[in-house]
Amino acid sequence: MIAPSILAADFSKLGELVREVTKAGADRIHVDVMDGHFVPNLSMGSVVVKGLRPVTTIPLEVHLMVEDPGRFLDGFVKEGADTLIVHLEVLADPRPMLEHIKKALGKKVGLAFNPDMPIERIEPYLRDIDLALCMTVFPGFGGQAFIPDSLERLKKLRALVNEHNPACEIEVDGGIDARTIGTAAGAGANVFVAGTAVFGAPAGPAAAVKNLALLAS
Ligand code: DX5
Ligand code: ZN
Repeated sequence: MIAPSILAADFSKLGELVREVTKAGADRIHVDVMDGHFVPNLSMGSVVVKGLRPVTTIPLEVHLMVEDPGRFLDGFVKEGADTLIVHLEVLADPRPMLEHIKKALGKKVGLAFNPDMPIERIEPYLRDIDLALCMTVFPGFGGQAFIPDSLERLKKLRALVNEHNPACEIEVDGGIDARTIGTAAGAGANVFVAGTAVFGAPAGPAAAVKNLALLAS
């Protein structure tokens, strides 16, 4: 599964680019939301989901890199988000929010965590989620290098997911490109976010999506 991150796209051509990666076989569109508090950068809000909803039929997944995700869930759902991904770091008790997204809002739910989060801390929630988003860079910016330690973390996570909830997807985000995607897949990931490697690809985003999908399989 390839999830192009629009953070790296040319925003003056956003609709056109999303159509292009959809046609090339992208499996979902990754929308990076940053609040300038949880991460040292600002990005986009639900208006972007609203604008993209009529442009593509593939799921829109929203990665909420924000301190207070609860405030924004309804707005993203209203505009057409299919999956809401919240960070473990900002949730004292994640369960009520995970359940709210799944049951009350009826959407897929993802739990994200940074490269310094012990993998054991995810274990109690694996049965409550559709997707575990393992950050392979510290979030905030596109174009960073994949952190090599992530491979060991992914292997651990894969073992825990297989034990508790094999249907849960393992997504990697940060520094995924033609060089890193194969090893990330080998370590257990099955959904791959790629920003720069898709929208910054010299051969163009469509060719990049196809190539990454091939290398991941
Ligand atoms: C990082 C974001 C990523 C980012 C990935 O803070 O969560 O989704 O867009 O960008 P690349 O693929 O360029 O590392
Ligand atoms: Zn992301």
